[in-house]
Amino acid sequence: MGQACAVSHPQSTLITGIGELVSNDGEPGGFAALTDAALVIADGTVAWTGPASRAPAADTVVDASGRAVLPGFADSHAHLVFAGERSAEFAARMAGRPYRAGGILVTVEATRAAPDVVLRANLRRLAAEMLRQGTTTFECKSGYGLTVPDEARGLALAAEVTPEVTYLGAHVVPPEFTADPAGYVDLVCGPMLDACAPSARWVDVFCEDGAFGAAEAAAVLAAGRAAGLGARVHANQLRAGPGVRVAAEAGAASADHCTFLTDADVDALTSTPVVATLLPGAEFGTRQPFPDARRLLDAGATVALATDCNPGSSFTSSMPFCIALAVREMGMTTEEAVWAATAGGARALRRTDIGHLGPGARADLILLDAPSHAYLAYRPGVPQVAAVWQAGRLVAGSLP
Ligand code: NIG
Ligand code: FE
Repeated sequence: MGQACAVSHPQSTLITGIGELVSNDGEPGGFAALTDAALVIADGTVAWTGPASRAPAADTVVDASGRAVLPGFADSHAHLVFAGERSAEFAARMAGRPYRAGGILVTVEATRAAPDVVLRANLRRLAAEMLRQGTTTFECKSGYGLTVPDEARGLALAAEVTPEVTYLGAHVVPPEFTADPAGYVDLVCGPMLDACAPSARWVDVFCEDGAFGAAEAAAVLAAGRAAGLGARVHANQLRAGPGVRVAAEAGAASADHCTFLTDADVDALTSTPVVATLLPGAEFGTRQPFPDARRLLDAGATVALATDCNPGSSFTSSMPFCIALAVREMGMTTEEAVWAATAGGARALRRTDIGHLGPGARADLILLDAPSHAYLAYRPGVPQVAAVWQAGRLVAGSLP
């Protein structure tokens, strides 16, 4: 602690020379950035931000040399507990075969057959892959077990790597219940929920033809909420349907996909706190039309971006890739897309401690090897995340 300073902290880190600091702490909660900025990390949180010329002293100084610093990405939708892969299905789709929800069962079979050690290794590999690409918070769903013990172990594994754990017993009806889908919904709402709720924060349902209808989805969400879980919905992915309405009626945190929306759906998303979470990796991987983010933003909806990382429809863990797609294909500005991938994801997870870099925020942040956030879309496919801090600790990449 050399010079007199406004703020000083034990073990503090000053990142200075930041060409663009995306803080997202402007009014009233939209994208906000400072140029020629500095930021102090102390005790795992952001202690100070402001002009580099007024930066306080700190124990360690990092010179960003004009590069950009952003909040870590908040990937609010991922399916990472699975075994096997479906590259042949992807290749066949690219050759013209349509996507159907039924492919999920291929992964269910492989997941049920896999020992814990295999599921855990795959999950940790994907979590590490996310972290290297700047994702400091991710949500993780079950949904490839679809028996009481397989769903419960999937959630217990997910809880080892993230607090944002989602029970998706209602992903599809498994083959042993084909003749009795109502019996499967009873299982999901009863014994399976009892076994899963202790490991989960959220409940989700795939509300779609070929998966679960409106009444079934509402029942699953109501049971989950009665067990203390917050609601999220896979809604309107493959065609217009009841998913968004069900999400709004259940007070869900988020309606995810939102690819095919009626005007009434858009109204439901703007007149309730439900976040519209868009998953462009899924449209890329299934060759579907991209969701119209512009329509949602212009109507006043809160939009999040997430990867939907899963072995079927969207096998990407890259938030930068999703940002690039959102800017190029979905009518989002670079600012809107970066906000949606950070603060939007935080809103979808009902988190106020992440997604922004205002004083008091968790010090989850990334140093880009680029001067501005726009490079995430401007240089698609190029690894540009130079360093990642999680709760103030450097956890990936290296310092200049
Ligand atoms: O979000 N829509 C349902 N579930 C996943 C797909 C899972 C799969 O194909 O394995 C999704 O796209
Ligand atoms: Fe999904």
